[in-house]
Amino acid sequence: MSSFTYSLFTTIFLVLTIFLHPSNAQLSSTFYSSTCPNVSSVVRSVVQQALQSDPRIAASLTRLHFHDCFVNGCDGSILLDVGGNITLSEKNAGPNNNSARGFDVVDNIKTSVENSCPGVVSCADILALAAEASVSLGGGPSWNVQLGRRDGLIANQSGANTSIPNPTESLANVTAKFAAVGLNVTDLVALSGAHTFGRAQCRFFNQRLFNLSGTGSPDPTLNATYLATLQQNCPQNGSGNTLNNLDPSSPDTFDNNYFQNLLSNQGLLQTDQELFSTNGAATISVINNFAANQTAFFQAFAQSMINMGNISPLTGSRGEIRSDCKRVNGS
Ligand code: HEM
Ligand SMILES: *[C@@H]1O[C@H](CO)[C@@H](O)[C@H](O)[C@H]1NC(C)=O
Ligand SMILES: *[C@@H]1O[C@H](CO)[C@@H](O)[C@H](O)[C@H]1NC(C)=O
Ligand SMILES: *[C@@H]1O[C@H](CO)[C@@H](O)[C@H](O)[C@H]1NC(C)=O
Ligand SMILES: *[C@@H]1O[C@H](CO)[C@@H](O)[C@H](O)[C@H]1NC(C)=O
Ligand SMILES: *[C@@H]1O[C@H](CO)[C@@H](O)[C@H](O)[C@H]1NC(C)=O
Ligand SMILES: *[C@@H]1O[C@H](CO)[C@@H](O)[C@H](O)[C@H]1NC(C)=O
Ligand SMILES: *[C@@H]1O[C@H](CO)[C@@H](O)[C@H](O)[C@H]1NC(C)=O
Ligand SMILES: *[C@@H]1O[C@H](CO)[C@@H](O)[C@H](O)[C@H]1NC(C)=O
Ligand SMILES: *[C@@H]1O[C@H](CO)[C@@H](O)[C@H](O)[C@H]1NC(C)=O
Ligand SMILES: *[C@@H]1O[C@H](CO)[C@@H](O)[C@H](O)[C@H]1NC(C)=O
Ligand SMILES: *[C@@H]1O[C@H](CO)[C@@H](O)[C@H](O)[C@H]1NC(C)=O
Repeated sequence: MSSFTYSLFTTIFLVLTIFLHPSNAQLSSTFYSSTCPNVSSVVRSVVQQALQSDPRIAASLTRLHFHDCFVNGCDGSILLDVGGNITLSEKNAGPNNNSARGFDVVDNIKTSVENSCPGVVSCADILALAAEASVSLGGGPSWNVQLGRRDGLIANQSGANTSIPNPTESLANVTAKFAAVGLNVTDLVALSGAHTFGRAQCRFFNQRLFNLSGTGSPDPTLNATYLATLQQNCPQNGSGNTLNNLDPSSPDTFDNNYFQNLLSNQGLLQTDQELFSTNGAATISVINNFAANQTAFFQAFAQSMINMGNISPLTGSRGEIRSDCKRVNGS
């Protein structure tokens, strides 16, 4: 082959590679190796400090990355407050209002990162790094976080309302919302395993406890012993804001108990239990594997977090590096 033909083929290959993988072409685990080499330790150290006074914060930070990535990609849009051109924030969207938390810790991380390396690390990357630090400090896997996302200039409240799954949806609908952002059934099961830590308010599952969709009875896929406990903690006419551990067996630890809970009908949210209790679902065999083999779960979770972190990032000259995670620069 002549060197001309060779370089022609190389060029075609490169062009195809770039155009076939536009969403994650530029993320890299070494993105800040010259501009902010210590960024992972700085993030981890602030998360660790926050955990001293709030054992739930690791779960809350993990969830923020998920809710960021599912709406206009991982672009830090969930962090924007109302102000300037932002009239409807994602923070106030249905799935986040009085529910998403950890924004103050994100601001502390940003301050600490800016002290080490001013103006180079995006808020979207901080969310990805904080999620990894949170999972690993909680006893879960570590992974090399892909970096190089930039921060978006808009918030999409209606997108947050429709793209983030809600806890009463069917498995088919949740699967479709994951597929819409390029995540498959293995990703859905692995990432749902994040419900191995953190809390959920009664209002997100109390429809299961007394009268499931007008049937007059509780959800039949709810373990009777667990049901009695939940009915006590979330009485009819009680406060919808009361907190419950998503994984009662180890509330703040990242392990595979979530999957063992599903096997004994102790998934807290309807969307958790239906992963295992929907007849014939493709999710069942994945759950059996993760329940029996924590290593398999940890490996899959790390890979699926990388997949989720690759959802439509802004790279190159798109977006900006925000100096305050709550505001678009210059507003
Ligand atoms: C499959 C669809 C999902 C649904 C319907 C769902 C729904 C929910 C709901 C309703 C809560 C309780 C929020 C509250 O009470 O304020 C919650 C908590 C949580 N979710 Fe999910 N979630 C899903 C997937 C995920 C994924 C993919 C992740 C991360 C990878 C995640 C991580 C968490 C964590 C860690 C918490 C606890 C947060 C805290 O304690 O502050 N969830 N989720
Ligand atoms: C990196 O950050 C950690 C945590 O903030 C700190 O303890 C360490 O001294 C830093 N190392 C360098 C080389 O800056
Ligand atoms: C968010 O919750 C507050 C109560 O804390 C409520 O006043 C407000 O209307 C809610 N926002 C939206 C958009 O529903
Ligand atoms: C999003 O949902 C909340 C209620 O959950 C509603 O108050 C708000 O108007 C919705 N926002 C948009 C832009 O649809
Ligand atoms: C908002 O999100 C929805 C659903 O994810 C999407 O269809 C829409 O294009 C987004 N809007 C903007 C302005 O990005
Ligand atoms: C599933 O999605 C469809 C279309 O958005 C909606 O009409 C239906 O109510 C959803 N079903 C459940 C159980 O969430
Ligand atoms: C989901 O995608 C992963 C690659 O990220 C693949 O290994 C896995 O087999 C896929 N799962 C399903 C159910 O297609
Ligand atoms: C259950 O809910 C349905 C409709 O929401 C209602 O008609 C019925 O009376 C309720 N049953 C009980 C036992 O509360
Ligand atoms: C809840 O409140 C309604 C009226 O608001 C009442 O009819 C019902 O008996 C109450 N249920 C319980 C279990 O207290
Ligand atoms: C209900 O949970 C208990 C543990 O609390 C377990 O021993 C039992 O097997 C579970 N029942 C079902 C039907 O899964
Ligand atoms: C558990 O999963 C890991 C990773 O997939 C695999 O290498 C290992 O062989 C599995 N262990 C058992 C006992 O099946
Ligand atoms: C707000 O929107 C206007 C009109 O699109 C634009 O000219 C301006 O630059 C925006 N402001 C900021 C801070 O992005």
